[in-house]
Amino acid sequence: MSEIKDNKVYILAIESSCDDTSAAVMCNDVVLSNVTAGQAVHEQYGGVVPELASRAHEQNIVPVVDAALKNAGISKDMLSAIAFTRGPGLMGSLLVGVSFAKGLAASLGIPMVEVNHLQGHIMAHFIKEEGVEHKSPEFPFLCLMVSGGNSQIVKVNSYKDMEIIGQTIDDAAGEAIDKCAKIMGLGYPGGPIIDRLARQGNPAAYAFSKPHIPGFDYSFSGLKTSFLYTLRKLVAEDENYVEKHINDLAASFEATVVAVLMDKLYKASKALKIKRIALSGGVSANTALRNAYADYAKRYGWDIFIPKFGFTTDNAAMIGIIGYYKFLDGEFCSMDKPAFTRTVL
Ligand code: KG4
Repeated sequence: MSEIKDNKVYILAIESSCDDTSAAVMCNDVVLSNVTAGQAVHEQYGGVVPELASRAHEQNIVPVVDAALKNAGISKDMLSAIAFTRGPGLMGSLLVGVSFAKGLAASLGIPMVEVNHLQGHIMAHFIKEEGVEHKSPEFPFLCLMVSGGNSQIVKVNSYKDMEIIGQTIDDAAGEAIDKCAKIMGLGYPGGPIIDRLARQGNPAAYAFSKPHIPGFDYSFSGLKTSFLYTLRKLVAEDENYVEKHINDLAASFEATVVAVLMDKLYKASKALKIKRIALSGGVSANTALRNAYADYAKRYGWDIFIPKFGFTTDNAAMIGIIGYYKFLDGEFCSMDKPAFTRTVL
């Protein structure tokens, strides 16, 4: 095992759970490099194709890890441990990162740290950057985790103690946004496109039916259907309707998703008496959602935490930060741990 010099722990982190191959190098809780290769191959299919994703990970993993080490200015023999995403995610995608991490750790004789991808998204708030002022939430805090695969309200008690307070019972928010973008003939992923169009549109132009789900759970499939039926009716009257009104449609749909997300989050914050509220996952890049956070902070005295863009989508630095905390606690994992596709926090 490499020794730790000057209290500096160097972690190489690897993330390959879906369609981004990412590697990061951390020095303690400071990110030195964070390199991600996306996969444009999926755009033409309107969604991630698992077999193509794993093939692209195989091509990307070596150059991405090389670039991460080079950008960090460190050599492999300085590494203290390798952190990797063990799950959840696509099995073929995970296998590439997990196998690579095991092979490299064995060849360097250093320990491995397994990281849950969802916990990584939440702990992205703790990643520090050299020369950049940073504020992390104190425990406990609430985190709204919204991505293409998840919509959850999580009570975060520590880096390894997280409770799901509410979650979607069907589609994730990002999935619903992507599907509605597809219905309107927009590209994939639809989230950033809807976001851009919505900024020129009227969020009150259309009313779509909101779900009535008890507790802090979410549902987005009814909203998606309401959007589809509204559009079908309008297109039946004018086949160019979507084209003519795309900004208002995008803005109204986006506003409904944001209102649904914020309503349950507000209820959870009130019930649990927690006003430290964080945001995580790919959908946290959304302008309307970020604006709603700022608005609630003003109105209800929330202390809000929104990670910078580069740490919201899938990236390895968020795996590295948990890797570092687990390293300090001596929580290593053995070579026989397989990847897993589904899990709770
Ligand atoms: O966390 P993430 O990068 O990947 C996984 O889900 O694993 O999230 C991707 C999701 C997609 O549904 C994408 O459309 C959505 O995040 N997204 C956005 C925006 N940027 C990405 N949704 C709304 N507005 C955005 N600006």
